[in-house]
Amino acid sequence: MSETGNNGSGGQAMRRAALAIVVFLALTAVVFVLSPDDLYLWIRALHIIAVIAWMAGMLYLPRLMVYHADTPRGSQQSETFKVMERRLLRAIINPAMIVTWALGLWLAWKGFGFSGGWLHAKIALVALMSAAHGYLARAVRLFAEDRNEKPARHWRIVNEVPTLLMIAIVVLVVVKPF
Ligand code: HEM
Repeated sequence: MSETGNNGSGGQAMRRAALAIVVFLALTAVVFVLSPDDLYLWIRALHIIAVIAWMAGMLYLPRLMVYHADTPRGSQQSETFKVMERRLLRAIINPAMIVTWALGLWLAWKGFGFSGGWLHAKIALVALMSAAHGYLARAVRLFAEDRNEKPARHWRIVNEVPTLLMIAIVVLVVVKPF
């Protein structure tokens, strides 16, 4: 069934995203099963890959909303944005967040026994990032129902939130200042 007229390429993108998730999860399972001496480093690498996917989506989704907010309701363009937003959320952002949390918590337990001021601050900021994720997921639903009342300027400001959180999180985990 066609949703926007671009279903062919959209469907292909969904299949590619699903394939990427399957390959990634298979690699993670292989790493855990083989349990190499440098298991921690492998999991850290997989954690960073998941973080990149999550952040790519968290930075792109509000950008789509900046353009969507200026698009007339009911137009073909608006319907296309709805599909792009929903697919980005379901195929990339949601699975990437779950994997980032799961592997991050494993690293925090295995490497640091959940101790360290920087780690606690990092987890608090990641919780805020997850709240921003929830806010955007709700916005996807509102846009889908043509109920967004916020102007493009609002989404421009929202766009900065994940950026600022990401900078603070990366500094905390790399520099470990306290
Ligand atoms: C609650 C979720 C998360 C937890 C518990 C967590 C925990 C950790 C831990 C313990 C490490 C290993 C640090 C080390 O070995 O020195 C790590 C690495 C890393 N994390 Fe997370 N993390 C989470 C989410 C995130 C997010 C959302 C980001 C980015 C926005 C992020 C970015 C990174 C980066 C870049 C590294 C690699 C640091 C390095 O190799 O020096 N993490 N994380």
